[in-house]
Amino acid sequence: MEIIKEITFQETFSVRHKVLRKGKPIETCFFDGDNLEQTKHFGYFNNGKIVGVVSIYKNKNSIFKFPNQYQIRGMAILEEFQEKGYGKLLIKHCEDYLKNNDTNLIWFNARETAVTFYEKLGYTKNGFPFTITDVGIHFLMFKNL
Ligand SMILES: CC(C)(COP(=O)(O)OP(=O)(O)OC[C@H]1O[C@@H](n2cnc3c(N)ncnc32)[C@H](O)[C@@H]1OP(=O)(O)O)[C@@H](O)C(=O)NCCC(=O)NCCS
Repeated sequence: MEIIKEITFQETFSVRHKVLRKGKPIETCFFDGDNLEQTKHFGYFNNGKIVGVVSIYKNKNSIFKFPNQYQIRGMAILEEFQEKGYGKLLIKHCEDYLKNNDTNLIWFNARETAVTFYEKLGYTKNGFPFTITDVGIHFLMFKNL
């Protein structure tokens, strides 16, 4: 059975660690704001096991004028479950949640390797690529809801 549901930030760590922070200390899986009330974490469950995660943070980027902005972070699908449409469903789940929450804009820093995935979901690159230390080249991407 497959289902998306809200999870705690601690429950994101197993997937974040394997996919986004491979070989790094588990502490690096905690992101600023993970424990705030407005932050939400969603997990994609496959037969009772979390195989994908994503998190949304109420966080305004001053580049954008819209008042109600959310940032997506920690989008990750376990390698053996990638390319099955799970990532797409998790992003859509965030969008549906935020549409019901008066959000005008979603933004995030996308890894260069994931830009096409987000473009297929209607997100646009904003500006030049930049480097995040220890992680690599990123693009700021956004979508108006
Ligand atoms: C990027 C990631 C989240 C995508 O999730 P996924 O479940 O594998 O993607 P989906 O199966 O939902 O793919 C949806 C579409 O995007 C495409 N796609 C997925 N990942 C892609 C990638 N890295 N590059 C280009 N296209 C990609 C799929 O082929 C599919 O295309 P289609 O609709 O034409 O069939 C996942 O591969 C992942 O966790 N990667 C490693 C970590 C990472 O880069 N996270 C994002 C950090 S910003």
